[in-house]
Amino acid sequence: MHTVRIGQNGEEIPAAGLGCMGMSGGYGPANDTESIATIHAALDAGLRLIDTGDFYGMGHNEMLVGDALKGGKRHKAFLSVKFGALHGPDGVLMGYDLRPAAVKNFLTYSLRRLRTDYVDLYQPARYDRTVPIEDTLGAIFDLRSAGYVRHIGLSEVSGRTLRRVSQIYPISALQAEYSLFSRGIEGEVLPAARELKIPLVAYGVLSRGLISDATLDNQVTMGEVRARMPRFAPSNYMRNRALIEALAGIAQQRGVSIVQLAFAWLRSRGDDIMPLIGARRREQLAEALKGLALTLSPEELSAIEQSVPHEAVAGERYGPQAMRHLDSELSG
Ligand SMILES: NC(=O)c1ccc[n+]([C@@H]2O[C@H](COP(=O)([O-])OP(=O)(O)OC[C@H]3O[C@@H](n4cnc5c(N)ncnc54)[C@H](OP(=O)(O)O)[C@@H]3O)[C@@H](O)[C@H]2O)c1
Repeated sequence: MHTVRIGQNGEEIPAAGLGCMGMSGGYGPANDTESIATIHAALDAGLRLIDTGDFYGMGHNEMLVGDALKGGKRHKAFLSVKFGALHGPDGVLMGYDLRPAAVKNFLTYSLRRLRTDYVDLYQPARYDRTVPIEDTLGAIFDLRSAGYVRHIGLSEVSGRTLRRVSQIYPISALQAEYSLFSRGIEGEVLPAARELKIPLVAYGVLSRGLISDATLDNQVTMGEVRARMPRFAPSNYMRNRALIEALAGIAQQRGVSIVQLAFAWLRSRGDDIMPLIGARRREQLAEALKGLALTLSPEELSAIEQSVPHEAVAGERYGPQAMRHLDSELSG
């Protein structure tokens, strides 16, 4: 697998990562033993980027990752942590807290849960307009100067915001949703990241499991994340399923799974894109890695894009409340 440089003078790491959110129950019950085995399998396969968030499973995910990295494995991982989301005990998102003191407090807890004394990439999960983002990033910059954080990242910001803050702080990576079903970033966000030479960490490559053989087999379980996603609402789901049927034909012709086709398509979008594999089982990880190793022909790429015209995808990528927190959707 090719590598991507993180930060101007930073190290090069393999251009894909393991996203651990699903290991803390977002998509239904997960098994900690299998989750840890999946993290180990990712590191054994040469991946380094391990993505978590302090609010994934309300701390469970970081503790799981910390457990997986015990016994001398910490140095193998390039730990990416998102922070800032506030949830009630019922799991409902109450907003974000990105005040500088909150940033430092969040990191203190994350370091303990992750059993480490530094995080490689630290980023606010969203840009919350109640606190100037410059203040939030200033707090991460202080943490970086003190050695607790190695790189500053951002998630789901617009191209305009990325350009503005990059003039003040060194931004090493941008996390954004990018898949055959979610191509909005091609308008302004991706061109801005490319102009600034900031690699893009792509999440939701399978549109939360929608772009998969499980959709055709009606095997996708809702779980707490998908139940809130408009693309899984019954009327949208059936229209989206029809798009997956069209993709299935192309996958069959190539002799691969729909999941592999989705990862291969993302791989074709450029060497600066680092897909997150949202696997919670080793077999899923292996399937996705095979997809990333595929090269699609121009004919296959054009057949894929004809099968899934972006405007045919039914439903926004988040529900209305969550959409309001997406700077990337609000200002380009
Ligand atoms: N920056 C952000 O705002 C943000 C938001 C969301 C996620 N993320 C990060 O991105 C990562 C990936 O995103 P995601 O999990 O939401 O979406 P995703 O990768 O689009 O979908 C993951 C789901 O796809 C299904 N799947 C089926 N076959 C698979 C295979 N071979 N490999 C992997 N998954 C397969 C799995 O469902 P089952 O497990 O149910 O079978 C899995 O839960 C997360 O873990 C998290 O680290 C970031």
